[in-house]
Parts: sequence; C-alpha cells; structure tokens
Amino acid sequence: MLTRTKEILTEAKKNHYGIVAPDFWDLNSARDYVRIAEELNAPILLSFAQAHKHLISLEEAAAVGRLMAESVKAPIALHLDHGEDFDYIRRAIDLGFNSVMIDASMHEFKENVRLTKEVVDYAHAKGVDVEAEIGHVGGTTESPTEMESVANVYTTVEEATAFVEQTGADSLAVSIGTSHGVYKNNKNPELNFQRLQELAANVPVPLVLHGGSGTGDDNLKRCVREGITKVNVFTEFTTAALAHAAKAVREEQLKSYMRVQQAADEGIRSVISHYINLLTK
Ligand code: 13P
Repeated sequence: MLTRTKEILTEAKKNHYGIVAPDFWDLNSARDYVRIAEELNAPILLSFAQAHKHLISLEEAAAVGRLMAESVKAPIALHLDHGEDFDYIRRAIDLGFNSVMIDASMHEFKENVRLTKEVVDYAHAKGVDVEAEIGHVGGTTESPTEMESVANVYTTVEEATAFVEQTGADSLAVSIGTSHGVYKNNKNPELNFQRLQELAANVPVPLVLHGGSGTGDDNLKRCVREGITKVNVFTEFTTAALAHAAKAVREEQLKSYMRVQQAADEGIRSVISHYINLLTK
C-alpha cells in the first residue's frame, strides 16, 4: 500500500527498528523487493536513484513503483534517492513519487540549505516528504574507481541541528563512516558510533545511513540500536544478482536467458530478505 515515508519512519523510530531502502533499477528488482516486503509483512522505502536514469526513465520508474506499491498490503513509500537537481525532483513529485531526497551535501552549508529548502517548499505543498544530507557520504553508486576517490566528510551535531531547523527536512542522511559501493579489501568500515549517539540525541528527525552494502551486520544492527532509522542498500543486490546468475549458468549449463534472469532475482530476494530480517528483529 502506498504509504507516506513520514508514517513509516516515525513508527520505526518510535519502536526502535530499521527500514530498508533498496534501490531498484528495473521492473524485476522493484518486484523482488516488494514481494519480500509483503511476505515478511514489513514496510520498505522502494527507491529509485537519479543516477540510474540511463537504465529506466523517471516515467517508467514512477509507473513501476506505484504499481508495485499499490499491489500489496505492506506499507511501501516510493522514494527518489539522491535527487540531484530541482527540476528532476519536481518531475518525480509530479509523476507520483511520494518521497524524495535532495542530495546537495557536496555544497557548502549555506548552499545546501538553499537548495534543500527549495525542494522542501515544493514537496511539502504536495504532501511529499523530503530527505536531505549534511556531511558527505563518499563514493558513488556508479563507478568503483570513483568510489574510492570521493572522501567522507563527517556530519557535525551543530550543522545537523541547524540544517534541519533551517530547511524543514523530514529526515536526515548523516555521514558516520560508511561509503557507497564496495569497501577496499572487503573489510567492514569503522563507524563513529560516538557521533551517531550525539546526532541521535540532538536531531529531531529520523536519521538515515547511506552506503549499507558491505557495512556488516553487527555494524548495521548497532546503528539501528543507536539511532539510525533508515538504511540504504544498492550494491549488494547487483553483486548477488550477478553471482546467482553466474552460478546458474555454470552449474546448470543454462541455455535459457529467462532462467538466468530468474536466478538473478533469487539473488536479489535473498539480500532483501536478509536486510529486512536483520533490521526489524
Ligand atoms: P550501497 O551501494 O553502498 O549499498 O549504497 C546505497 C546507497 O546509499 C544508495 O543511496
């Protein structure tokens, strides 16, 4: 059931569990996420990142996302992840996304506030919730080489509280040591839990952790215990899809592309099941 992000995150924050926000890039991945959410009777933020606009158009993502959300009983928000500019975000809202992120975290504080506020004003007038980011979670969902070259900037409590007050954002992505994409040597990152506790104690809106892939189950569980409400995951779905598809080709000597796609879907579903179970229990 298409549900507001605010409702989903408020309920989760109050009851101390985490919400998974998986990025879909086609019909199959969207369907896999929603099917498992329904099976586990768990809310998710079905997300589409602007960076994936070369894979499916915004119109297609909106149609697929709404159809999927409306076809189940589990609470599903349709969320635009990492919106980069006002025009694209406005189009997403007009097409039916009921939740958006503006990521202007690469800008100076004042400019980040200005760009975020512009989106908040437009979105709130249409009953749409807004996530913003302060501090900067490095890496990119696109290229592994770039991932290693873009640095993190930790979120400070002073900036986070002032930012929420000045923008009216409904949730806040914070930087405490995760990065988008894979980590060097496949090692789990060291997170700044002290900073997370301080942020959770002072920031009035739900906190979001980007870069969930490879962060490690213990880290993620502790993040949720200590104040994170929403966890974004993308890369692990694509690696699981590829691994399952490759295994099926190898072991079953597949000749059918359809079967390869089914194997990829099984991989995607196993990852979303894992993260929903991890964060909600
Ligand atoms: P990962 O690709 O590291 O899971 O990050 C996803 C993300 O944060 C999308 O916003």
